[in-house]
Amino acid sequence: MSLAKERELESRYVMGTFARADVEFVDGHGMYLEDDEGKRYLDFLAGIGVCCLGHSSPVVVDAIERQAERLVHCSNYFYIEHRGEVARRVSELADRGLDAGEALGWKSFFANSGAEANECAMKLVRLQAHRAGSSANTIVCLNGGFHGRTLETVAATMQGWLQDDFRPLPGGFLAVDPGDVDALERVLSCESNGVVAVMVEPIQGESGVHPLGTDYLRAVRDLTREHGASMICDEVQCGVFRAGAPFAFQLAGITPDVFTMAKGIAGGVPMGLCAARPELADTYHPGDHGSTFGGSNLAVACADAVLEELEQGRYEESAERVGTYLMRGLATLPHVTEVRGSGLMVGCDLDGSAPDAHDVVASALEAGLVINATGPHTLRFLPPLICEETDVDVCLDRLGAVLS
Ligand SMILES: Cc1ncc(COP(=O)(O)O)c(C=O)c1O
Repeated sequence: MSLAKERELESRYVMGTFARADVEFVDGHGMYLEDDEGKRYLDFLAGIGVCCLGHSSPVVVDAIERQAERLVHCSNYFYIEHRGEVARRVSELADRGLDAGEALGWKSFFANSGAEANECAMKLVRLQAHRAGSSANTIVCLNGGFHGRTLETVAATMQGWLQDDFRPLPGGFLAVDPGDVDALERVLSCESNGVVAVMVEPIQGESGVHPLGTDYLRAVRDLTREHGASMICDEVQCGVFRAGAPFAFQLAGITPDVFTMAKGIAGGVPMGLCAARPELADTYHPGDHGSTFGGSNLAVACADAVLEELEQGRYEESAERVGTYLMRGLATLPHVTEVRGSGLMVGCDLDGSAPDAHDVVASALEAGLVINATGPHTLRFLPPLICEETDVDVCLDRLGAVLS
């Protein structure tokens, strides 16, 4: 269908929750997308950090084809081929680098999105407190964080512009500033706050790619442990090899109690996953939580294939190497004042004389480059993990021309 027809139908029948660019992609291979008129675009957004192996990766296509021919869905009332294997892979990736005696053996819940994975994490820590006979139920979140679009995850997302129109929000959340260890300590020390968990994104993505930093993450870990609260890491954007490690918390040398992921885990097929230490995970009994679609045969078959590829390839090293190359190159472009990130999760700020970052994104699109803006002065880059230095060169050429 042509862009004109699609635009007409969508404007009439599809809710306007996203400001859509005037492009309809109909094809994609590797690092490139193609629109309905055959124009090709280098993709440095990857469906918002989702298509980790690029577009139409044979790994994902084969997994979809093989599984779809056999069984797409049969429900969580039954055992699901590949599901235990995906959970085992996640557990071993999370335990990577720990001595054999320290390995935790994580347990997973399968959902369909990042928000759902976070819902699972938040319900779990509240349930644990409840089952222990405690009335504590507060989850501390960081200003500038982002955890999803359901009402509960909006309540956890401490950004006024995302919360204000939806009040009253579910209760039981408190906010502190990222990096402020004293503020966190004060909140945790005040018994009447009844804190059960602190939830953080190791690298805040939606607010413009802000790594929390090793020192702060270690302080959160130490303080939560000291005060008997759980630490939840939302790895929906920074996890699954994107930041240069299987999970970003590993870069800080810490181990949370619960962590969540989504986006890249099934290479483009919807999946969210919440993993918890086994003794915490076992708080859930049949009926406490669930999902009709979560962990379907199709989704887990894809996740199994994607994780196998990510484990066997050299994606951590290449994310680190190519991400560093991208960051260095961005720093040389006109108007760029600061570059931040880790691996292939990168953001950069533009000075006050640059056009609005959303206009830069639109001009880049025109020039055949897909990137994203998280605000009027900040660009974000989340390319597929197959990205190479030669792709970065093309990205920098095109973006440099737009910014000149
Ligand atoms: C850190 C983080 N958490 C949660 C979410 C929500 O994920 P989803 O849109 O899959 O519900 C996102 C989405 O961008 C995210 O970046």
